[in-house]
Amino acid sequence: MGRFSAFLVQVAVGLQWVQSAHAGASSAHVFNIPAPVQPGNSTANYVFSSSSGGIDGPKVAPITNSTFQWWYFDVVSTEPGDHSYFVGVFYTTAPPAFPLLSASDLVTPIHLSGAYSNGTLWSASTMANGATISVKGDTVSGVWNDSGMSWSASSASQYLITIDAPTLGITGTITFNGIAPAHLPCGAPTNGATMLQFPQLGWTNAIPDADAVVDFQVNGESVVFKGSGYHDQNWSNVPLVTHVQSWYWGHGRVGPYSIVWFDGLDLNGTEHVSAYVAQDNKISFASCTLGSIQVRPIPDAYPPVVSTPNPTGYTIDIPDACDGGLKFEVGNLTLLGSPSDLYARFSGSLSTGKHQGVAFLEQFKLTATAPPA
Ligand SMILES: *[C@@H]1O[C@H](CO)[C@@H](O)[C@H](O)[C@H]1NC(C)=O
Ligand SMILES: *[C@@H]1O[C@H](CO)[C@@H](O)[C@H](O)[C@H]1NC(C)=O
Ligand SMILES: *[C@@H]1O[C@H](CO)[C@@H](O)[C@H](O)[C@H]1NC(C)=O
Ligand SMILES: *[C@@H]1O[C@H](CO)[C@@H](O)[C@H](O)[C@H]1NC(C)=O
Ligand SMILES: *[C@@H]1O[C@H](CO)[C@@H](O)[C@H](O)[C@H]1NC(C)=O
Ligand SMILES: *[C@@H]1O[C@H](CO)[C@@H](O)[C@H](O)[C@H]1NC(C)=O
Ligand SMILES: *[C@@H]1O[C@H](CO)[C@@H](O)[C@H](O)[C@H]1NC(C)=O
Repeated sequence: MGRFSAFLVQVAVGLQWVQSAHAGASSAHVFNIPAPVQPGNSTANYVFSSSSGGIDGPKVAPITNSTFQWWYFDVVSTEPGDHSYFVGVFYTTAPPAFPLLSASDLVTPIHLSGAYSNGTLWSASTMANGATISVKGDTVSGVWNDSGMSWSASSASQYLITIDAPTLGITGTITFNGIAPAHLPCGAPTNGATMLQFPQLGWTNAIPDADAVVDFQVNGESVVFKGSGYHDQNWSNVPLVTHVQSWYWGHGRVGPYSIVWFDGLDLNGTEHVSAYVAQDNKISFASCTLGSIQVRPIPDAYPPVVSTPNPTGYTIDIPDACDGGLKFEVGNLTLLGSPSDLYARFSGSLSTGKHQGVAFLEQFKLTATAPPA
């Protein structure tokens, strides 16, 4: 929408990455991430530690031209016939490291997008003046400086996004009340567990599913709905295109299940997966073992390359989940946002055959030819 094109661009003072010197059990670790791209090499942490960053603290610093990191949130309406959804991405990412960002020397953009209940899309972007992230156990907050936008966690399962950006025409809140426990690529967060989803891609999923409430105004129109909410973080100190061939990711809620899937290929043709199923606010199955989940497009054009048309759905097979395995089908896809050959995001329905629910998903296909088999 044209009236959202106004960008708030401000250049920050070159503050260094600072971790407070007296960060004990009782005080927060404070990370100041300056707006400009930083020189030098960046270091990423891919091993979970509850005392050093935990699920949602920053994992990579400084933000150089080869570094990406973002905090991603979405909510999809669970009301039949309501097309509302919301996506918010808070970046600390240099554009050369991630193909979906416009060129800039600044690393702290925020992208918001969604649909009104009738399916009409809206979007808004801004550039913050650096970001400050405070971490004290599961209590975490991220303030994107001078943008009016922030997110915070008051506990492991309670998140709040606050938006006060009248110049963009957006004000309001989104609350997430988690109904499925956090996980890492291979299972529950335990000290020493890997956070690597791909050879050089970190991933934590603080909120696999939540009862979420969206309540804000977009350019004078109310956007108010309840739905299934989700929040994760991913990061790397090498650009995405240097190691990813393609991937399928998504999450959904159907019957008693909250599920999150990931099935991707690296440039060597090696498949990397993550399966997650929760019921009654407990993890009932989680694994990153190859074969623990298989996600395939309908029709089955796999692996996808840049020229492969978008599928009409997906099959998700989790053979060892819940005594006897679970099979899901994603269908009734609605393509969201602007078409791109490299990336597509969809909302859809998720079916077990017996129950029908909602799904929110994406695919990347970044190479012109398939990787070696
Ligand atoms: C980052 O990359 C951009 C575009 O390639 C370049 O203009 C800029 O000088 C680089 N910044 C640093 C700190 O290397
Ligand atoms: C960054 O890493 C490269 C490759 O390891 C090395 O050649 C270079 O000197 C490093 N640069 C800095 C500023 O540390
Ligand atoms: C959809 O709803 C929005 C928000 O209420 C409104 O601005 C827009 O005109 C509607 N679009 C259609 C096609 O009815
Ligand atoms: C936040 O903005 C203020 C000025 O408005 C600036 O002094 C401060 O350095 C910024 N913080 C970061 C992390 O860039
Ligand atoms: C990476 O980030 C995207 C947000 O663009 C998110 O949808 C996805 O779950 C993440 N996946 C992994 C495996 O990092
Ligand atoms: C591909 O394989 C080579 C050789 O085993 C290895 O060095 C490289 O890290 C692999 N790349 C990826 C993206 O896994
Ligand atoms: C697509 O929608 C139809 C009509 O609501 C439903 O019967 C079908 O199960 C849906 N497909 C999936 C895969 O959920």
